[in-house]
Amino acid sequence: MDTTVQPVIEVKDLDLGYGDYVVMKDLVFSVNKGDIFIVMGVSGCGKSTLLKSMIGLKEPSRGKVLFYGKSFWDEDEQGQQDMMRRFGVLYQSGALWSSLTAGENVALPLQLYTKLSKQQIQEIVALKLSLVGLEGHEDVFPSGMSGGMCKRVSLARAIALDPDIIFFDEPSSGLDPINSRKLDDLILELRDGLGATVVIVTHELASIFAIGNNSVFLDETSKTMIAAGDPKELLVNSRDPRVAQFLTRGKSDEQKDK
Ligand SMILES: Nc1ncnc2c1ncn2[C@@H]1O[C@H](COP(=O)(O)OP(=O)(O)O)[C@@H](O)[C@H]1O
Ligand SMILES: [Mg+2]
Repeated sequence: MDTTVQPVIEVKDLDLGYGDYVVMKDLVFSVNKGDIFIVMGVSGCGKSTLLKSMIGLKEPSRGKVLFYGKSFWDEDEQGQQDMMRRFGVLYQSGALWSSLTAGENVALPLQLYTKLSKQQIQEIVALKLSLVGLEGHEDVFPSGMSGGMCKRVSLARAIALDPDIIFFDEPSSGLDPINSRKLDDLILELRDGLGATVVIVTHELASIFAIGNNSVFLDETSKTMIAAGDPKELLVNSRDPRVAQFLTRGKSDEQKDK
């Protein structure tokens, strides 16, 4: 058996754009099993676009995204669907169905993609809600929940199908610092508990340093990546002023808050 560790995701020579408009080019990086991999960069640089190309929602203009060595955009529809079932995604907005209870929201992917019985689905929903700290909250509607709770329910829904990889787009947007920290802790717990790999789009420095162990830095001006690796090491070692400025921005303000 081949014992070399294969990356979970390999992004190879990826170019991204909308029509003639180039967002990013020449992206090359790998995400390893168990990574909490951060996609960072200023607002508008192309983080969400990259994430979309990684979860099968946006075809790249060039290059490949490999999952366990298989090229997503070269698979047929069935192959792509099989791969997508192994992803859990938490979108920026959270996007719960407001007319459905928390339990019904989490049950949705199980109803759509599995043949489990109602009873089995209820058991999984209860388990997933307890994993995100919302045991017994099945019957609450989104309108009756705080922003932090909605994120947790969205996360429970994202992990309903036991994904190998969980993708987050700006998970802490709209959360206060305390709830944002709680969400970071929860992401770590889920990574450890589920053995999942995590890819997070964020520009929140606190999260980047608290939970990230690997990253790619997208630069808006040059339209490509200008750094990769452990953000804590980039903070110390990166000679690029754009990376250094991003990773140390607002430092004095943050210290004042403490
Ligand atoms: N659907 C789209 N059509 C055309 N341009 C888009 C679309 N979505 C995003 N863009 C543009 O692509 C660039 C990158 O956007 P995005 O990936 O959302 O950045 P980020 O997530 O880093 O804030 C921006 O200039 C944005 O205006
Ligand atoms: Mg975005």
